[in-house]
Amino acid sequence: MKLLILNGPNLNLLGTREPEKYGNRSFEDYFSELQFKFRNLELSYDQSNIEGELIDKIQNARKDFDGVILNPAAYTHTSVGIGDAVAAIDIPVVEVHISNTFSREEFRHKSYISPNAKGVIVGFGLQSYELAIQSFLKQD
Ligand code: DQA
Repeated sequence: MKLLILNGPNLNLLGTREPEKYGNRSFEDYFSELQFKFRNLELSYDQSNIEGELIDKIQNARKDFDGVILNPAAYTHTSVGIGDAVAAIDIPVVEVHISNTFSREEFRHKSYISPNAKGVIVGFGLQSYELAIQSFLKQD
């Protein structure tokens, strides 16, 4: 199974960005652990700070992947375009967040992605990504 992990804006700074909220590990470091843990899967990782690029990457994913694990970061709360891209593709998209967005500011409670996502995993730190991968393995 081929899965794309796609991160949105500012998540390239994981490890140094507000570590009290997002931890002190870079995503690259965590991703190599995931690749080892799920070495029977083909995991890919990509990131962009640009809304249109994220939309392009979501559209293109439908050709190359069986599913997408998407952390749209701040665009979660603003982007009708990314929400529409998720609705437009016929492979499942699982939305993830590192922090518990519901325990934070009111504007983070709204997601334009969730209505079109297969499911949402929120608030488990980097482990949210691992839980999302596991959701693709369980086919009940
Ligand atoms: C985030 C939560 C968003 O509200 C925030 O803008 C982010 C990261 C998370 O993973 O906790 O950049 O998506």
